[in-house]
Amino acid sequence: MNHQHRRQSIRFHISYWMIILVGYGLLFYLLQSKPIESHSLFSLSFFFAFLIIADTRLGESLATGGRVMSSKCIVLSVIALFGAPTAALMEAVSALVRGLLLPGKSPRKAIFNSAMLGTAAGAAGLVYESLPWSNAFDSPLFIAPLAAAIVVHSLVNHVLLGAIISLDEHMPFQRVYRRSISWARLRHLLDLPFAAMVVLLYQQAGAWTLVLFLFLVLALYQSDRLYQRNREAHINSIAALTTALEADEPYTHGHSYRVAKYAVRIGKAMGMSDRELETLEYGGLLHDIGKIAITNEIICKPGRLTDSEFEVIKSHSTIGADIVEQIKFLSETTELVRHHHERPDGRGYPHGLTVEEISLGCAILNVCDAFDAMTSDRPYRKALTVEQAMEELVRFQGTQFDDRVVAVMLQLYHQGEFDSMREMLDGAVPMAPLATPALGVQEKSYVS
Ligand SMILES: [Fe+2]
Ligand SMILES: [Fe+2]
Repeated sequence: MNHQHRRQSIRFHISYWMIILVGYGLLFYLLQSKPIESHSLFSLSFFFAFLIIADTRLGESLATGGRVMSSKCIVLSVIALFGAPTAALMEAVSALVRGLLLPGKSPRKAIFNSAMLGTAAGAAGLVYESLPWSNAFDSPLFIAPLAAAIVVHSLVNHVLLGAIISLDEHMPFQRVYRRSISWARLRHLLDLPFAAMVVLLYQQAGAWTLVLFLFLVLALYQSDRLYQRNREAHINSIAALTTALEADEPYTHGHSYRVAKYAVRIGKAMGMSDRELETLEYGGLLHDIGKIAITNEIICKPGRLTDSEFEVIKSHSTIGADIVEQIKFLSETTELVRHHHERPDGRGYPHGLTVEEISLGCAILNVCDAFDAMTSDRPYRKALTVEQAMEELVRFQGTQFDDRVVAVMLQLYHQGEFDSMREMLDGAVPMAPLATPALGVQEKSYVS
């Protein structure tokens, strides 16, 4: 372990234990100042059950990002109805239960999540209680402190989580963040009206009203499943098309799949958001789909292409973009498919865009495409080694390949990632590759 890594590891451990100490310290202080009343235990058990459900099965990630009904809604209602100490304890215990009892979770992360979420709920609760109208349940005014509480909860949650992930994965804090920010997060705003409804219904008729919410959540969950299945069906048919395109052409077998995988790895290292990474992966899978319209005599020609043959080959990016544009789910990849052969010096095709005009996604695909072509056997030459291919990328960076992308790729290569990826992906081509699973801070917890 070199000096820098050791320093980072010490910083990680100090932060990890500090957050745990502060979290449990705050929890202890809150419970000392206002112990939980025993007569509310029955009602609380409903909320607790709901919290566990919301964080596990029913709350599973949605295709569109976010959760059906996040546990934040329950925590907010508990803050308003039972106070900060109860909410903090409930979050801390629920995170521990989930982390220690569910298979495949790490106890180290479970303890961290418990302290971190307890802190978030405790801080949100204290802010809620310190603001006016926090007991004004006979008017809509209590929504104002509730909104403040949700902001504080998110802030504490994301700052602590971002800090620990950035230290653990040796990644700048902003990068952890850029990776997870998307419009889908606005969905969390739904927690506020949901929480307000839970509070008002509870006040009217008691804890059983939560069961009514369960049905609402089930309906939302069901509609999302349908959406997701529909989307997967679309994507799988496109992926099958890519596989068919490459199946009768031994030299490009698995090319698109590998390009997609490399691109996602680089995009992730460059701090792209989950949504951007997903688009990039589809772009990688589909980038050469336009070759379907070009005869194999030209594509597999062993010798040099004539000018007119090269013009035909060049049309594949435009044809591909036109195909992809028709499919609503994939329309975001159109630009990636159209411009994957553009070059920073403006000598690429189809539009001869310059470096400022080429999006990061296109630049990444361009480099990955060339890297995979170089490291694969072609009719006219044997494959280069990964090292030789890297040298080529460096030689042509700034003219043929984007500087930033080559720099990141080189960094990953020095970390040994590209050698192992090339080996791993060789021959491993599923019939229908699926989308990248969620990466990074998709959820509110520190996950493995
Ligand atoms: Fe291409
Ligand atoms: Fe390609």
